[in-house]
Amino acid sequence: MKLKNKTVLVTGGAGFIGSHLVDQLILEKPEKIIVVDNLFLGKDNNLLDAQSKFPDLKIIHEDVSNFEKMKTIFKNDNIDVVFNLAVIPLPASLEKPSWTFSHNNNMTVTMCELIRQDFFKTLIHFSSSEVYGTSISGPMDENHPLNGTTPYAASKAACDLLVLSYCRTFGIDASIIRPFNNYGPRQNEASYAGLIPITVQKIMENKPPMIFGDGKQTRDYLYVTDTAKAAIKIYENLKTRQKVLNIASGKEISIVYVVKKIAEYLDYDIEKILYDPDRPGDVRRHIANTYLAEDLLGFKPTVSFEDGLKKTVDWYKITLNNQRKMTK
Ligand SMILES: NC(=O)c1ccc[n+]([C@@H]2O[C@H](COP(=O)([O-])OP(=O)(O)OC[C@H]3O[C@@H](n4cnc5c(N)ncnc54)[C@H](O)[C@@H]3O)[C@@H](O)[C@H]2O)c1
Repeated sequence: MKLKNKTVLVTGGAGFIGSHLVDQLILEKPEKIIVVDNLFLGKDNNLLDAQSKFPDLKIIHEDVSNFEKMKTIFKNDNIDVVFNLAVIPLPASLEKPSWTFSHNNNMTVTMCELIRQDFFKTLIHFSSSEVYGTSISGPMDENHPLNGTTPYAASKAACDLLVLSYCRTFGIDASIIRPFNNYGPRQNEASYAGLIPITVQKIMENKPPMIFGDGKQTRDYLYVTDTAKAAIKIYENLKTRQKVLNIASGKEISIVYVVKKIAEYLDYDIEKILYDPDRPGDVRRHIANTYLAEDLLGFKPTVSFEDGLKKTVDWYKITLNNQRKMTK
């Protein structure tokens, strides 16, 4: 299964991972790329690079949970594959749990119904490692219990079950990618994993960066382009169908290491870092077992955490400086 000459639709394509996925899709030479994003958190600016390389990129501002509106979009184009990334992020689920839960489910069930009704052929659905909650013992494989702590995690787990139920009941052609913590340029500071953009911003404003809890919580960080490439490989490989695949580095990195490393790159005194109480729902240990992705896709991260973090910090430095110049 190659993407060459295919028509691809990306929900949430103006967001962080979605916009990087669009960049990677362009390299595969598809016939058409359509982004559907209502700009809840996404930005059209995230797609500027993509538009310069692929001028026919179609961006539609619409709510993915609206089945009738989606049906109209799908009727106009013969879509081969949907990468389903649109999401209401974790922080929203702490303020508006019921709305976040139902909205995330409505977006996914819309895609499930459209594929069931033959409006497109293949669904690559984005899950999240948040569904696992804190690791029970060491690296978490795809069979780790779903112990997510937040309504966001519950909504993501429910969406995964929904997609799998449509596979089993209606035979839809679908695979599920389960990324762990992504980082890189364009990450939205309003998302839960916004530690890197928030820390860079604070330091650049000469305010002390904040660590919640003791900072020994760990995350499994993967540079965003590695996730985007993996999503494409998952589409290409039929052995991934009806399966969930962890996509991560398989390495555990503490929050305190991340903040100190950013401070080092920005020449900031680490003694000034502040510590605040734990946040509700914060998971303690998070590390992936990626054997399935290695086995089925030959997946291996290509960007080391230190290199990726340096690129990310450099990108935020330029972006934040440009924003400052514009507001002066
Ligand atoms: N960022 C991470 O570290 C991470 C980790 C694991 C899984 N994921 C998953 O990857 C996917 C993308 O995450 P992200 O970090 O890029 O998030 P993001 O918030 O940057 O992107 C999500 C996009 O969905 C759009 N959106 C929200 N509601 C919509 C609606 N009703 N209709 C149309 N568009 C809508 C937003 O505007 C945004 O552009 C999500 O499914 C998320 O659960 C992300």
